[in-house]
Amino acid sequence: MKKILTIDRIIKPFNKKINIEGDKSLSIRWVLISFLSKKKSTSYNLLKSEDVLSAISCIKKLGAKVKIKKNKCEIIGTGLDCKIKKNITLNAGNSGTLGRLILGLLINSNRRFKLKGDKSLSKRDFSRVIIPLKKFGAEINARGNNLPLTMKGIKKPQAINYIEHKGSAQCKTSVMLAALKADGTTKIKAKKSRNHTELLFKHLKIPINIKKNKKYDFITVKGVKNINPLNYKIPGDISSCAFFIVLTLLSKNSKILIENININPSRIGIIHILRKMGGLIKITNKRKYKGEQIGDISVKSTKNLKGINCPSNLNTSAIDEFLIIFLVAAKSKGISFFKDISELNQKESPRLILGSQILNLMGVKNILTKNSIKIFGNPNLIIRRSIKIKNFLKDHRIFMMCVVAGLTFGGKWEINDLDSIKTSFPTFLKTIKLIEQKSIKN
Ligand code: S3P
Repeated sequence: MKKILTIDRIIKPFNKKINIEGDKSLSIRWVLISFLSKKKSTSYNLLKSEDVLSAISCIKKLGAKVKIKKNKCEIIGTGLDCKIKKNITLNAGNSGTLGRLILGLLINSNRRFKLKGDKSLSKRDFSRVIIPLKKFGAEINARGNNLPLTMKGIKKPQAINYIEHKGSAQCKTSVMLAALKADGTTKIKAKKSRNHTELLFKHLKIPINIKKNKKYDFITVKGVKNINPLNYKIPGDISSCAFFIVLTLLSKNSKILIENININPSRIGIIHILRKMGGLIKITNKRKYKGEQIGDISVKSTKNLKGINCPSNLNTSAIDEFLIIFLVAAKSKGISFFKDISELNQKESPRLILGSQILNLMGVKNILTKNSIKIFGNPNLIIRRSIKIKNFLKDHRIFMMCVVAGLTFGGKWEINDLDSIKTSFPTFLKTIKLIEQKSIKN
């Protein structure tokens, strides 16, 4: 049975301090990289969402030993050799990151395995990793470049030269993981995207070299014989934090403090964009952790939001946040324009198209093209109608966008597939509840 969430109230003014669950990109990378070490890796604050649990199921099937305790997780991997059992089927669930990264990780598998995913993942493009991984020497069979696919690795992958033009960290990372096992030095020219893998490789003393220009990073990775264990405390996820930043900005007389968030510069496009729109957002207590930057984020609501002609150079660092940014545009004075964002249609759902449809249901005028959207904001927007949200491929970020829209603009929202939040942010609704509890002294 589909669980439906009804939202028919506007949130009252609040002043709260909250914590957000661990970063999804770092959690999945921790699981997969730990699988490559035969020694015990330990993490704290690992995100226990379905995407990360799918990664854990996959490495267990591949022979890893995993212990999950309350806030601690331990993995003993199988090393860089990739001897796998016969007829294995790996299930990446809803996760594009897991699906694409695990193929690079298994570049030297001795046997053919199958990779499948859920309905949403089975619609997504895998040619973007199949092409470079075939260059390393893998055999991959996929119908129409989608899942399910089968792959057999190659015993001695050969280093490749690879150009990544989309700004996809998943493609870049898939190739970097394969490069670890290759003979020689893999050279990657990658349009700038989140750089967690590079930072983790540096921390693990893997031979990696990075040169940068304005648009591209030039990365070399040399094959290695073994990998050290990876002990890591995972900071909070800015992409989950984003829903609460916007909830606060759009609410009346409210404030929030969100502690211990990963503010890696390749992830905080949302903060730059919202500040340009008049958002009152401060980052304090900045510190470094194993190459990553961490900080506390405080936000105040404001009545003075203004439209933005969003510079495309912020697109990759805000790629998962555009849906929630569209809500800010809906309440801003003037027109907002977001361009060169066709990649949004390659996500868990076609987010550019669905984002526009949801704005239409809210009564917000917008003009959609294949790669852009123009949103006509209204600072006095109040919704009085009933809105039903169905058929969004259970996209977790669509679900959370609609909850925030209901709590800030009003109307009666019925949103299908409540379980979709388990993908990235299982405690999302609990955190909303906590904010709605009578203000406790912070
Ligand atoms: C991710 C990269 C991005 C992002 C996704 C997580 C990662 O995808 O949208 O949610 O962890 O590398 P692309 O690489 O497809 O842009």
